[in-house]
Amino acid sequence: MELPFRIDLEGEVAVVTGGSGIIGGMFCRALALCGAKVAVLGREAEHGLPVKKDIEEAGGEAITVSADVLSRESLEQAKQEILNQWGKINILVNCAGGAVKSAEVPQDQFADAKEDMLNFFTTDMGNIKKELDLNLYGTMLPTQVFGEAMVGQENANIINISSMGAYGPLTRIPGYSGAKAAVSNFTEWAANYFAKSGIRVNALAPGFFQTTQNHALHFNPDGTPTERSRKIIESTPMGKYGEPEDLIGALLFLASPKGSSFVTGVVLPVDGGFHCYLGV
Ligand SMILES: NC(=O)c1ccc[n+]([C@@H]2O[C@H](COP(=O)([O-])OP(=O)(O)OC[C@H]3O[C@@H](n4cnc5c(N)ncnc54)[C@H](O)[C@@H]3O)[C@@H](O)[C@H]2O)c1
Repeated sequence: MELPFRIDLEGEVAVVTGGSGIIGGMFCRALALCGAKVAVLGREAEHGLPVKKDIEEAGGEAITVSADVLSRESLEQAKQEILNQWGKINILVNCAGGAVKSAEVPQDQFADAKEDMLNFFTTDMGNIKKELDLNLYGTMLPTQVFGEAMVGQENANIINISSMGAYGPLTRIPGYSGAKAAVSNFTEWAANYFAKSGIRVNALAPGFFQTTQNHALHFNPDGTPTERSRKIIESTPMGKYGEPEDLIGALLFLASPKGSSFVTGVVLPVDGGFHCYLGV
């Protein structure tokens, strides 16, 4: 992997939840290339092994730890493992999250729903709750558990992952949009709460990237773009999807002890301009 620029994170310890995912794995590799020791956190530690291997082959240091971001007990255990290994934690990237397929309302407007189709009225609220839990609670709980070890550490900072759905609701995914709006809100809340305790709290708001998680919404089974995909490109002033690598520079800026030392409570869009374009 090539970094857009390098920041110096020698001696620092980062935890990345969802570290075996597409974006999380990339963030683990990027932080390690800057010298940070990286804990690749996921529900199954072995899923993080390819990321650990890449980091070690590039001369970096990583461990895989297993924890569910919805389970305090498993997070506490992971924290202890990391502290036993490296003695400190100063960077937390809350990357676990995503849309829950079963919480999707499969039409843009109720008027488009055919009679036998699932619609908002028949959507199982239990699935919407899963989405809120994973994205909001799954950001708050690791912040609570790991944040406690970060107070007083140098260059302590937390980076959450929001979404374009936080700026205004995206069609079909009301639970996800609401959950990410709450992640942005929590980012600002926590920025104030920890401001005098040395922890900066910021977020990235990725625009649209072609990853496995959203593939079915954006591409038909034959690989052609869906109508939704066409609308996304039209609504993105730069006229294209982002490449996951486009997020690395923003991550490193927010994690930087020098570059962003007075930056907290920011939700940084990386979206080709999607958030600021209303279509006319
Ligand atoms: N892909 C996009 O276009 C896009 C856009 C905006 C925001 N995001 C956000 O970026 C983040 C990463 O997304 P991605 O595209 O890399 O998805 P991904 O599915 O590749 O990664 C998500 C990771 O979270 C892990 N995870 C899920 N539930 C967990 C739990 N309970 N405990 C621990 N780990 C758990 C998964 O195992 C996976 O490794 C998510 O928060 C997502 O909402 C993605």
